[in-house]
Amino acid sequence: MASSSSSMLLSLSLLLLLPYITSSNIIIIPISHLPKNPHPDPYQHLSYLANSSLKRAYHLKNPQTTPPHTNPKIPLFSHSYGSYFSIPLSFGTPPQTLPFILDTGSDLTWFPCGKNYQCVNCSTHLNNTTKVKSFIPKLSSSSKTLACVNPKCAMVFPKIQCPYCKLGSKNCTRRCPWYTYPYGSGDTGGSLLSETLHLPNRRVPDFLVGCSIRASDQPAAGIAGFGRGPASLPSQLAIKKFSYCLLSHLFADTNKSSSLVLVGGKDSVKKTKGVSYTPFVKNPEVPGRGHFLTYYYVGLRRITVGGRSVKIPYRYLRPDKNGSGGTIVDSGTTFTHMAPEVFERVAGEFEKLTKGYKRAEEVEALTRLRPCYNVSGIETPTFPSVTFHFKGGAEMALPEENYLVPAGWEVLCLTIRGDNLPMISSGPSIILGSFQMQNYHVEYDLQNERFGFKQQQCN
Ligand SMILES: *[C@@H]1O[C@H](CO)[C@@H](O)[C@H](O)[C@H]1NC(C)=O
Ligand SMILES: *[C@@H]1O[C@H](CO)[C@@H](O)[C@H](O)[C@H]1NC(C)=O
Ligand SMILES: *[C@@H]1O[C@H](CO)[C@@H](O)[C@H](O)[C@H]1NC(C)=O
Ligand SMILES: *[C@@H]1O[C@H](CO)[C@@H](O)[C@H](O)[C@H]1NC(C)=O
Ligand SMILES: *[C@@H]1O[C@H](CO)[C@@H](O)[C@H](O)[C@H]1NC(C)=O
Ligand SMILES: *[C@@H]1O[C@H](CO)[C@@H](O)[C@H](O)[C@H]1NC(C)=O
Ligand SMILES: *[C@@H]1O[C@H](CO)[C@@H](O)[C@H](O)[C@H]1NC(C)=O
Ligand SMILES: *[C@@H]1O[C@H](CO)[C@@H](O)[C@H](O)[C@H]1NC(C)=O
Repeated sequence: MASSSSSMLLSLSLLLLLPYITSSNIIIIPISHLPKNPHPDPYQHLSYLANSSLKRAYHLKNPQTTPPHTNPKIPLFSHSYGSYFSIPLSFGTPPQTLPFILDTGSDLTWFPCGKNYQCVNCSTHLNNTTKVKSFIPKLSSSSKTLACVNPKCAMVFPKIQCPYCKLGSKNCTRRCPWYTYPYGSGDTGGSLLSETLHLPNRRVPDFLVGCSIRASDQPAAGIAGFGRGPASLPSQLAIKKFSYCLLSHLFADTNKSSSLVLVGGKDSVKKTKGVSYTPFVKNPEVPGRGHFLTYYYVGLRRITVGGRSVKIPYRYLRPDKNGSGGTIVDSGTTFTHMAPEVFERVAGEFEKLTKGYKRAEEVEALTRLRPCYNVSGIETPTFPSVTFHFKGGAEMALPEENYLVPAGWEVLCLTIRGDNLPMISSGPSIILGSFQMQNYHVEYDLQNERFGFKQQQCN
């Protein structure tokens, strides 16, 4: 069952590979939901998504350390991406096409690699070891193991600099070291390759990509790193802007797709009509915490619930010198995650304005979301609005379906989480997730250092 799911996943991506060319500076790639986890029970499914968001938050705040498996406060679940988005990418000569998860929270692009790729707990099923479709370097004439002296090695290992090779020495044959990347409660490892990446209207030789020979606790796909670091896909391709429109989660089990658009070339990036922008906030530079340089920080200034400003202490809204605080946008998080002190204030205001409705506490226990309300017998239930206000005046007034989810029959739950993550003293306080951005066109304008969004039907 597990392997049929991953081959289905692949054929789905191949079907969606319908490249079309507009101009040489614009690359359009289909983006779609990976089949969601097969919890037929709606409470289980929401619980799974809630768990995933929590685990993802842990990973983003603390990726340098492996979460302690023994800590009972950290739930273990099948992977950290929840309901996520995938794009098909083709590598090698001749090209081999695989699905990749679009991840703005990491830099390295890597694929399951080799005939003996070992993936433990990678299935979306609860079963153990999964056969995942992988890239076979032996079948590609353009596949090269990355040498230590290749400057690209330093994108991933800035400190190692190949101790036995003098920089620029022509006769050093050492390979760039093996990488190990922690991910969620698992990790992945392998060797770095220089390989040809084929995009719909562009061929990119010598693209730095990770060939993972083993992984645990991963989605059964590759990862396309769209972060801000030098190894990321947008950095390697000198992309000036990328944008996507996130299909509603209602389409998670269909073969519908929307588009990821990459803009490069010489022209400068202009404002898109109807899009509100907020500048990216400077990333905190903390020694030993280089991953903070990967994230897209935005200046969330205020949250209003039912039109009323929620009092949020300033320290949560701005990253400090240690990298504590601030808001990031993350494509791999499903439900927005907030530091408990922020969440309690937002949820508290929401509850105050929703007193007339009956709390569904059993559903809260089952889904791990809160608050949940039983709206049985109420003809047109109304809920307080939720709006994010950003630096520069951009406002994201969420439609109800972006912050409330039906949980079974006649129950609705708020899709924001605010758990206390153990042993974390730093990291962003607010992680804006993809559930909140359904049917939004979002833009990462790297040239003008700003994040843009507008509401739009994506299908
Ligand atoms: C979510 O985590 C809780 C606590 O660890 C666990 O009891 C529950 O089974 C998890 N849900 C799913 C769907 O894995
Ligand atoms: C795989 O999942 C099982 C059950 O959740 C867990 O006991 C085991 O440690 C996991 N293995 C790895 C390598 O993560
Ligand atoms: C897990 O896989 C084994 C064989 O690999 C199979 O016998 C078993 O039924 C599977 N369990 C589930 C829950 O799918
Ligand atoms: C998963 O597989 C490993 C060996 O590959 C085994 O030791 C472990 O008990 C299995 N775990 C589960 C939960 O089936
Ligand atoms: C190349 O290798 C030779 C012999 O191993 C060594 O003597 C020489 O210094 C090396 N040249 C450079 C530029 O590192
Ligand atoms: C994709 O969707 C169309 C229309 O909904 C349907 O006709 C087609 O069979 C679907 N293909 C797959 C592979 O699910
Ligand atoms: C940063 O961390 C150091 C050491 O952990 C601590 O002494 C200092 O107070 C922290 N600074 C801020 C602004 O939190
Ligand atoms: C919601 O309330 C109705 C009426 O009180 C009740 O019959 C129903 O079981 C409740 N639903 C849930 C999921 O608790």
